[in-house]
This record gives sequence, C-alpha cells and structure tokens, in this order.
Amino acid sequence: MASKIVVIGDVNGQLQSLFTKLSGLQKKQNFNFALVVGNLFADDDETVSELLSNKITIPLPTYFTVGSRALPETVIERLSKDEDICENLHFLGKRATTKTSEGVKIVTLGGQLDDAILGVSKEPYLPFHTVGDAKSLRGANSADILITTSWPALIREGSQKALPDSFTEPPSHEHVSELCATLRPRYHFSTSEFFYEREPFFHAPSPDAPEIRPLTRFISVATYGNQTKQKAVYAFNLPSSPDLTAPLPVGTTASPLAPQSGLKKRKSLDPEPYSRFSSNDHSGRNRGKRHRTEYKPPPGPGECFFCLSNPNLATHLISAIGDDAYLTTAKGPLTTSTANSSLGINYPAHALIIPLTHSPTIAMVTEEDGTKEKTFAEMTRFKEALQDMIAKQSGNKLGAVTYEISKSNGVHTHWQFLPMPENLIRQGLVEAAFRVEAENLSYPTFETRDPGIGADEGDFFRVWIWTPPSEDAEANTKCLTLSFDYTLRFSLQFGRVVLAKLLGLEKRIQWRDCSQTEEEEKKDVEAFKAAFKEFDFTQ
Ligand SMILES: *[C@@H]1O[C@H](CO)[C@@H](O)[C@H](O)[C@H]1NC(C)=O
Ligand SMILES: *[C@@H]1O[C@H](CO)[C@@H](O)[C@H](O)[C@H]1NC(C)=O
Ligand SMILES: *[C@@H]1O[C@H](CO)[C@@H](O)[C@H](O)[C@H]1NC(C)=O
Ligand SMILES: [Zn+2]
Repeated sequence: MASKIVVIGDVNGQLQSLFTKLSGLQKKQNFNFALVVGNLFADDDETVSELLSNKITIPLPTYFTVGSRALPETVIERLSKDEDICENLHFLGKRATTKTSEGVKIVTLGGQLDDAILGVSKEPYLPFHTVGDAKSLRGANSADILITTSWPALIREGSQKALPDSFTEPPSHEHVSELCATLRPRYHFSTSEFFYEREPFFHAPSPDAPEIRPLTRFISVATYGNQTKQKAVYAFNLPSSPDLTAPLPVGTTASPLAPQSGLKKRKSLDPEPYSRFSSNDHSGRNRGKRHRTEYKPPPGPGECFFCLSNPNLATHLISAIGDDAYLTTAKGPLTTSTANSSLGINYPAHALIIPLTHSPTIAMVTEEDGTKEKTFAEMTRFKEALQDMIAKQSGNKLGAVTYEISKSNGVHTHWQFLPMPENLIRQGLVEAAFRVEAENLSYPTFETRDPGIGADEGDFFRVWIWTPPSEDAEANTKCLTLSFDYTLRFSLQFGRVVLAKLLGLEKRIQWRDCSQTEEEEKKDVEAFKAAFKEFDFTQ
C-alpha cells in the first residue's frame, strides 16, 4: 500500500499555525504522517510549553529531526528522558535510521557540518554533525526517504531547473552527496528559503541488477509561513516499493552525484529481509509510532550494536573511522588498563575492528565489485596498525591475537583484537589453547590457512596469532581457521573463553561482568586514542 505523506520545511516555531493548517488538510487528505524536514522549533518559548502540556493538537503522526537550530532545552529534557514530547510528535534523531509503522525507512542527517568535531558527534540534539556521522549512516544500506539539513554538492549539475528569482543556492556539501549516492533514497528532502525540485535522477545500475536504475527525487522545501509564496508544504504518495520496471519519468537525468573517487554504489534491492516491517496493526491507532519491539531478530542497522547508524551506540568508544571500517575499544574489555602497565600500556588494548556496512560476513558485503576487498584491506590495515602499536609500546614484549566469527546468519561481522604476551605465542601456547578448547567442545579441527575475504567459504572462525619482531626474527602471523556448518552451534564466546582461560582471567569471561562506568570508559578511550594516534592512518 502506498503511504500518503506531507512534508514541511522550516517551521521555526510557528506550531499553532502549522498544526491548524494540517488539521484542515488532514480532513480531506488523510495523510499517513507528516515530516518536518527543517527546524520545527525556534526558541524555548510559550508555544513550546503549550505543546509540552498537550495544549496544541497535533492532528496526525508528525516526525521531526534536528535542523539548523538547537532544539529547545525543555524538549531536549523530555527526549533525553526517553519520554514522548506530546501525542503524535516523534523525534527521528539527528543521525538515525527509523522505520515507520507503514514500513517507510527514513534516514536523517540533521544539523550543519562542523569540521572541528572529530569522529562522530556525541551530541544527539545539537545542530552539528561530522563527515564521520554521514559515513556511519552508510550502514543503513538503503532508504525510502533521506532528510539532510544541508544540500548535496553538485545537485544542480545537469539540471535545467532554475532557482526562483532573487534566490541563491544554499551551501552544499560533498559528504551529503556521498550519502545520497550510497543510500539511493527514493526521496531526498532538504530545506531552503525557496522551493526547489530537481528533475528525478537515476543512479548507475549495479553489476548484479544491470537493468535497474534506482531513481532519486531531490526536493528542497521552503520556510513555512513566509510571504514569498514559495511552497512550504509538499504532499506526495510513496508506493510501498518502487516500480523498478516502469520507464524513467520524462526529464530524468543521470545522477549528478557522479561516482567520484570514494563514492560508492549499492545494490538497488533491499538486502535486509529481516528488517522488513511486520505489523498487524491496521487500525491506524498506532500509526507513526516507532515499533521498536516488533523488529524480528537479527537486528537491522537501526538497532545493531555495531552499526554507527544505531542512535543508542556507545559512540564514546569509537577511536577511528576509515572509509570502510572503524575502530572502537571493547565494552567490558577482557584485558584491563593495568594488566600491562609495567610494559607501558596504560589502556585495555582490547579493540574491535568493524566494517561500516551492516553485513554478517565480509564476503556478503553487498556492494559493487571491489568493496569487499576494500573493506577487508582496511580492516587488515587497522589490525596491522594495532599490532605495531602494541609491539612498539611494549618493547616487543606483546604480540597480538585477532579473531573473527564469520557466520552467514550472523548480524554484523567484526574482529576482536587483544594483546598477548609474546612468550605465550612463541611457546605455542596460544595456538594450543585454541586447539584444545575446540577439541574439548568437539568442534571440527583448526586448519592452518587464511580464507581471506571468505568468498566461497561456509561459516568459519579464524584467528590470527601475531608474533612481534625480535632481535633475530621478523614479525610473523599464523592464521588458524575452523570451518563449520549450521549443524554446529558455535559459541559466540569461543574466542574470549579461550583467551580468558589462557591468561588466567576466567572471571572476565562474560563481558557484562566487566562493565565499567562511562567515566572509566572515557578515560580508557582517551589513553587508547593517544597511544593509537601515531598509528592512525585515518586522520
Ligand atoms: C521568511 O520569514 C522570516 C520571518 O517571518 C523572515 O525573517 C525571512 O526573511 C523570510 N524569508 C523570505 C525568503 O522571505
Ligand atoms: C600482560 O597482561 C596479561 C593479561 O592481560 C598478563 O597475562 C601478562 O602477564 C602481562 N604481562 C606483563 C609483563 O605485565
Ligand atoms: C574440557 O571440558 C570439561 C567439561 O566438559 C572441563 O571440565 C575441562 O576443564 C575442559 N578442559 C579444558 C582444557 O578446557
Ligand atoms: Zn550493523
């Protein structure tokens, strides 16, 4: 079924006027929901307190995000307590993926670019974001609707549509273009003082669906309540899925967001069957609410622990973001910040290397040719940088172990990195520990081989055991791989259990038993980042 949607530009606090108008429209139009794609609020004034005390009637589910202004303090207070602001009003998040009860997938990147912030922004309500935030949203893979406060760079290339008289193009940004080119949304909304609708444009087909050219419509909606007669309220129908076989609309152009270096393209078909929305609620009673509880596992990017687009992610642990992967310290680390302080390591050094793409295995990263390879190469680069760091800082007293569980029905693959005393590695005790535990659990036997990207492999567990350089030998890596199939219930704790036993850290087997306060985590991350700085190739 199609959704009927009404989109509004900057409202700047004219709430009473807007919702009165929408009430009138709603009677005839019966929209599924409204989207405010710019600033909903202006100042923290009386109107806001009326809204918060339910004195303003919101006639239909209305979603909003962060625009170019900060949200009012009183609104932030409600949001940070996870309370509803008022009936029918829903916050989409500044950097987030949301699926409405109609199954419409909305990705938001609110606020302006702030180059001074490193990594991803940690302030969910301030009107600023980073290039890292935009990259993190790639994990969403696709979108029905993309909302960005800024315009994408180059969007008017190849277009015949002039701007209305006396208006100039607002500032535009390349990271927004990249996000649009990656997600290939059906609609991309932004805001401006005027109304602008570009001709639809199509993205290049992907190799696995050469006949399909996904279409995007870019529309920038004017400020509400202005005297300029520019369109500030835009209504449209969104069919539940695009008709991929329909001829391209007249005037359609090729994508102006042409793949430059670094721009990526995705498969046009939604690769996430598990996040399909399944609601039986056709009464409309709950329309517009986010149905968090109705997602079926495994989680989609919106609530995945490893997707940067998950708004609940512990972003303070993130240490570096590359083009295809990122680095974070572990929550509940196996090794503590003091374990190897005698060697000059004053941080836990248990780190995770995670692809930006939400994919159960590296081989299943569903993008155009070359992306799996790039992802694997960059993850390897992070691994090697960490190995170097740990060896240099410990005077080659520490090597490292990195392991991965690659399972086609997993959630979001990642590598776990841990420092390891070099004598245990040289004596063969690390290898033996993995083999013995596998044998004890009646798992298949480890083979000495590295499946690389893992194309044409089934499920496997692999571990790289890295010996640091010494006076008479260079550093070297041994990779052990244990292949298994669906008949085996492979323990997700396997790697951690082996290393905990080996290091006498049995009490720390469960990461939940090792939880730290956010303060402790932040302190550890700072120390980790300071140590990693010299090895960080992403800066
Ligand atoms: C829109 O209205 C606001 C105040 O109502 C005004 O400051 C602004 O200049 C107007 N913009 C245009 C393009 O007319
Ligand atoms: C380094 O830490 C590990 C545990 O994480 C421990 O087994 C080892 O003895 C420590 N080495 C030194 C020299 O402190
Ligand atoms: C092997 O498993 C048994 C229980 O099944 C356990 O008692 C024993 O300690 C394990 N051995 C090793 C080396 O982990
Ligand atoms: Zn994920």
